[in-house]
This record gives sequence, C-alpha cells and structure tokens, in this order.
Amino acid sequence: MPHSNVTRLRVKPLLAALVTGGIFICVWSLMALARQARGDSRQMFEFQQSSDCKSLANSGSWAPLNDTISCSNLTATPCGADTASHWSWAAPAVQCGTRQITQDQGRALFRDAWLVVAGDSIGRFFFAALLRLLSDSGEYQIVVGHRDFEYSFPGGTRATFLWAPYATNLTAHLHTWEQAKRAPDFLVLSCGLWHMLHITDPIDFAATMHVFKDAAAAFTQAHSKDGRGPQTALFSITEVYPPRLRTEEKRQHLTLPMVDAYNQAIAASGILAPPGTMTLIDMHHLTQGCGPTCTHDGLHYSNMTYDAAVQIFANQIRSGESGESQHQQSRLSSLQRSHPDDATMSSFHRVEMSGKAIS
Ligand SMILES: *[C@@H]1O[C@H](CO)[C@@H](O)[C@H](O)[C@H]1NC(C)=O
Ligand SMILES: *[C@@H]1O[C@H](CO)[C@@H](O)[C@H](O)[C@H]1NC(C)=O
Ligand SMILES: *[C@@H]1O[C@H](CO)[C@@H](O)[C@H](O)[C@H]1NC(C)=O
Ligand SMILES: *[C@@H]1O[C@H](CO)[C@@H](O)[C@H](O)[C@H]1NC(C)=O
Repeated sequence: MPHSNVTRLRVKPLLAALVTGGIFICVWSLMALARQARGDSRQMFEFQQSSDCKSLANSGSWAPLNDTISCSNLTATPCGADTASHWSWAAPAVQCGTRQITQDQGRALFRDAWLVVAGDSIGRFFFAALLRLLSDSGEYQIVVGHRDFEYSFPGGTRATFLWAPYATNLTAHLHTWEQAKRAPDFLVLSCGLWHMLHITDPIDFAATMHVFKDAAAAFTQAHSKDGRGPQTALFSITEVYPPRLRTEEKRQHLTLPMVDAYNQAIAASGILAPPGTMTLIDMHHLTQGCGPTCTHDGLHYSNMTYDAAVQIFANQIRSGESGESQHQQSRLSSLQRSHPDDATMSSFHRVEMSGKAIS
C-alpha cells in the first residue's frame, strides 16, 4: 500500500537519527567518565537532590554543638559532652519532618521486618550502626571478615548482613530474592570500592551498574503489592583520603577522580529513584563533609558517620510509610505511642554467637 510506504519512508530516517544520536550520547558519556577518572584536577561530583523527602533526608552538614544547635536537633547518639561536630539536617529536610529517630522508634520501625544490608565493609560499618541503634548494651557486634551473619531481635526483627562487595554479587542476590517467597522488607546495598580497587575501570563499573539496575527493578516489581514494594536503598561511594590509605595498591587505585567517576556511573545508571527504584543514602556527602579527621585509614569513618547514615535511612523509611497500607500504617503509628513489648525489648538476645555463615 502506497500510504504505508510513505509512512515508512518518514519513520526510517527519524529512527536512524535517534539511534545515531543515542550511540553518540553513550560514547560521549563513557569518554567523559574515562576522562574524569584520569584527570588530575577534581570537579567534585555531587548527587542532585530531588524535592522528594527521601532525597532531602540526605541534605545537611556537620555542625559543632553551640547555643542554637542542641543535641535534640542532631543525629549523634550519644550526643554528650564532646564538642566534636554532629550531623545536622538542612532546613528543607527538617520541613519534611526529618528528625532524630530514637531507639524505641527504631525498634518500632523494624518490628516484624526482615532487614538486609548487603555489600562491602562500608555496608558492614552501617550494619554496626544499625545494631547500635537497635540494641542498648553493645552486645550485638558485627562479625568482621568477609562473612555473612544475622541477628534476631524480640519484636520479630531479623537483621542480616551479607558480604557482597561487587555489584555483580548484589545482582545475584536480587535475582534470588526475586524468585523467593519471602524477600527482605528493607534492603541497603553498598558496592563500588572493591571494583575500584581490583578492576579499576569506571566504564566496566557503569556496565555492571546497568545490569544491577534491571535486577533491582525486577526485584521490586516481583514483591510489589498495591503499587508498593520492599524499600531499597543504595550508598554513594565514600570519600577517600589517599595519604591515609594503608597500602600502595589502595593509594594507587582509590583516588578522588575515581571516586567521582564511580559516583557519576551510579547516577547515570538510572538505578536511583526517580526514575529508578533505589533511594540514595549519600555516603559521599556525609563522609566528605566529615573530612579527614573522621577517618583513621582514609576509607572507613568514625562511628558517628555511620550513625548519621542510619538516621538518614530510618527517616527515609518513615517518610516512605506515611499514609500507606494498613500494615505500614500500624508500624508508623507505633512510632508515636510506645508498644507494650517495648519494656521487654531492652534485653536483646543474640541468636548466632558469631559469624556462622547463613545460606
Ligand atoms: C551554631 O552553629 C551553627 C551551625 O554551624 C551556626 O549556623 C550558628 O551560627 C552557631 N551559633 C552560634 C551562637 O555560634
Ligand atoms: C532545635 O530544636 C529546638 C527544639 O526542638 C527547636 O526549637 C529549634 O528551632 C531547633 N534548632 C534548629 C537550628 O533546628
Ligand atoms: C564504634 O562502635 C563499636 C560498636 O559498634 C564499638 O565497639 C567501638 O568501640 C566504637 N568505636 C569508637 C571509637 O567509639
Ligand atoms: C562476588 O563476585 C565475584 C566476581 O564475580 C566472585 O568472584 C565472588 O565469589 C563473589 N562473592 C560472593 C561473596 O558472592
């Protein structure tokens, strides 16, 4: 039919132009990544904040305690006599209702939930901060080394750490959970530094992030009911301080331009909401703001830094749950009033003594 031929004639050049344009943009951004990774001068990459409250929970800075900034405004736990800086949220975050989550509120938030942190040592430090929030005696400690471990808390909270330092490892977990009947209710993922250290190629990292993004979307889709799925969060790459890094290999590969290039690859992958499924926990902003005095080895930071990250995460969950399904509602309202179980929750027990691998 002549009519459809005419249509096809018009469509073809348009398609060709679009495809060529797409390829050009892809190649251009990969070259920009490579350029940035090589460059000496730093144009620090920063994640854009959307007007969403979950995103705004990342906005803030480290401030010293003084007459106007008191412990109640800050995340630090404990917030006591020491005069070191404490994390303080910026005004737009405060307007969203972002505030320090107390231990009781934290316990209520994760009641009857399965919480998984999977990733590298940064994820493990975050997991330690989570244990500090949920238990008061300090009896719950992380298991160091490349191990999985898990704790159960009264109140039905199950908290699991999975050693999974590469994006490919996280993708594999997401595929498993996608098929599983019971999936984590809350998922916090951390990767990038191992790839930077051992593979050192932002373009390859960008490719693995692309696959990871699809796995994250499929996982969320598989476990969504009434348009809601498990809540998932991803860390940006921690700031590094090369002079403090302990090995030559680290000093050579974990550079500031690399940190920027890897963070840019995370942003460009589309994994972050919106339009992706994962909420950003901006570890880079937190660690960069805390500065070199907060890190002993150029890579891992003071407990306070991860405590602040846990506070950001808990607030993101809280803002995600306002006005949602009944189960979520009841969890939210138990934040306001104290729960009958709370008295018994002060004595947590450890289910696994130490680092027994879980399947
Ligand atoms: C207290 O610290 C905050 C944040 O650094 C600052 O904006 C404020 O001016 C300080 N107030 C006083 C009284 O120094
Ligand atoms: C700190 O908290 C107090 C009490 O909640 C509040 O009145 C004050 O405005 C807060 N200050 C800042 C700087 O957010
Ligand atoms: C950091 O927290 C851990 C428990 O998670 C604790 O064992 C350690 O002593 C703390 N470090 C400092 C310097 O307070
Ligand atoms: C993570 O992935 C790497 C590379 O594919 C693999 O060698 C390693 O065994 C995986 N680690 C875990 C804990 O699954």
